[in-house]
Amino acid sequence: MYKILKKTQFSEKVFEFRVDAPRMAKHAHAGQFLMVRINETGERVPFTFANWNPDEGWIEFIFMVVGKTTECLSKLEEGDYIQDITGPLGCPTEIEGDRVAVVGGGVGLAIAYPVARMLCEQGKQVSVIMGARNKDLLILFEQFAALPLENLFITTDDGSMGEKGVVTLPLARLCETDAIDQAFVVGPVPMMKFSTLTCRQHKIPIMASLNPIMVDGTGMCGCCRVEVGGETKFACVDGPDFDANLVDWDDLAHRQASYKAEEAASIKHYEE
Ligand code: FES
Repeated sequence: MYKILKKTQFSEKVFEFRVDAPRMAKHAHAGQFLMVRINETGERVPFTFANWNPDEGWIEFIFMVVGKTTECLSKLEEGDYIQDITGPLGCPTEIEGDRVAVVGGGVGLAIAYPVARMLCEQGKQVSVIMGARNKDLLILFEQFAALPLENLFITTDDGSMGEKGVVTLPLARLCETDAIDQAFVVGPVPMMKFSTLTCRQHKIPIMASLNPIMVDGTGMCGCCRVEVGGETKFACVDGPDFDANLVDWDDLAHRQASYKAEEAASIKHYEE
């Protein structure tokens, strides 16, 4: 059982939990993820490590309420317990370039933040592009702003914070002005796909952290398979980071939507 030490609400549907997990805190790296099972009959859902402290023995993860499990999770309070947390899982993020754009959209910003922090610690020149539908959904702004970044760009679909538009606008400018030699993207599939196309136009390599549906997170169920460079990969053990230019984005989008009807029925049943 894992005790919730701190609960932070970023917006109506976005929460962060700090959980007592000393062993995990010792081994976590940027880009890795954990699997949470809320109770004995609960499904297992993946979340990325947003932060961790090996000295104090805690880890943090951020989640958005999108279905029954995350709805139940959001109801837990400080002092409550989560049944199981497994991790760290997946491969740590490795970025080769020296001038890197880290692009995060929506709740993907929770993954982008530890990656940007790690790159800053490695002495790289880091430009961050934060994207969200509106300012209420833009998470971790203060944490990103506290990093020693080269640039911090914000885009919102409605213009309520930063530039009105999408993340590819500042990304294209960085590419055009030769300000970066590598990019990393994480967020909704369309955002990652179009960030990839933008970088491809300028011959800038780009890595993407993929977020397919997962069940076990250890390479056994095959649920997280993605097509990369014409080969089938398991995001949980081969990734979650892949060369974005090799990802079959349309296949990933299709697989992401596989259980929409079941997810809708589950949350409806829960709310009734
Ligand atoms: Fe089961 Fe990756 S989640 S193989």
